[in-house]
Amino acid sequence: MKMTSLFKTLSLTGLLALGLAGSAMAQESDEPAQPVRQSWTFAGPFGKFDTAQLQRGFMVFQKVCANCHSMKYVSFGSLSWPGGPEFSDGQVKALAATYQIPDIDMDSGSSIQRPGVLSDHFPWNFPNDQAARAALHGALPPDMSRLEKARGYSRGFPQFVFDMLPYPMYQEHGADYIYGVLTHYEKAPQGVEIGDGQYYNPNVANHKFAMPPPLSDGLISYTDGTPQTVDQYSRDVTAFLAWTADPHLVERKEMGLKVIIFLFVFAILMYFTKKKVWSDVEH
Ligand code: HEC
Repeated sequence: MKMTSLFKTLSLTGLLALGLAGSAMAQESDEPAQPVRQSWTFAGPFGKFDTAQLQRGFMVFQKVCANCHSMKYVSFGSLSWPGGPEFSDGQVKALAATYQIPDIDMDSGSSIQRPGVLSDHFPWNFPNDQAARAALHGALPPDMSRLEKARGYSRGFPQFVFDMLPYPMYQEHGADYIYGVLTHYEKAPQGVEIGDGQYYNPNVANHKFAMPPPLSDGLISYTDGTPQTVDQYSRDVTAFLAWTADPHLVERKEMGLKVIIFLFVFAILMYFTKKKVWSDVEH
């Protein structure tokens, strides 16, 4: 009895120490600030993307972010898939045709440009990394296709363990990070040197960021009456990037739910089967 309580005390102390160490590490001065958790329609076991929000988010991407960032793993056609922005086939075809795609002429083999089709991916505004760096003070904007999944932040111990449980099931670290970056440009505090082409943003590592604040109130006209603010643009484009990073999220969550229901019904059936099979056996 004594040994068990000693063991319990020891392991609790250990857990506490680990937790404290984790949070101390997260508070180092150059570390990015912890993004504030936002509420997203696509969060949780029953989460779904909001189609209208994804359409607005695409608009923000196309009008603003695409000037610098590539999105080379996303095809025009995917914008009409169920569970995504769900533009109509006609809209997507027309959109693709507005882009010029580098290709090869099938007869002569020479390089040509042709209008985009559904299977083409978004072309980048810059011909190559060097051209992008030359235009942007040496900084390279990361590709946006999977950015929401490639970025996140550490919630430390023990939260990251709880985040995995079906409830609260927190998987939106990347979205909270991107939203945090877009909405937290600040004046550099006294004593912090900010170089040419750099901006102070406590949500990125080192707090020095080479991306100029891309959004401002009223920059893009929304036709559905949604507020035209930096906050709303940031939410919408972040939701859109969450979709490009995980276009099958809705299908996957629905399938997961069906599997759980199936397993539940199956377990009940197996229980009665077992009862029936063993009912005649003396025991
Ligand atoms: C003028 C060019 C430009 C525009 C427009 C732009 N970005 Fe960037 N972005 C950059 C550059 C350059 C970097 C890399 C910055 C660095 O390495 O310090 C970057 C980096 C980022 C990062 C990554 C931070 C990280 O963790 O690496 C995010 C997120 C981001 N941009 C989102 C956006 C979104 C969303 C938009 C559209 C609303 C946008 N950007 C528009 C140039 C731009």
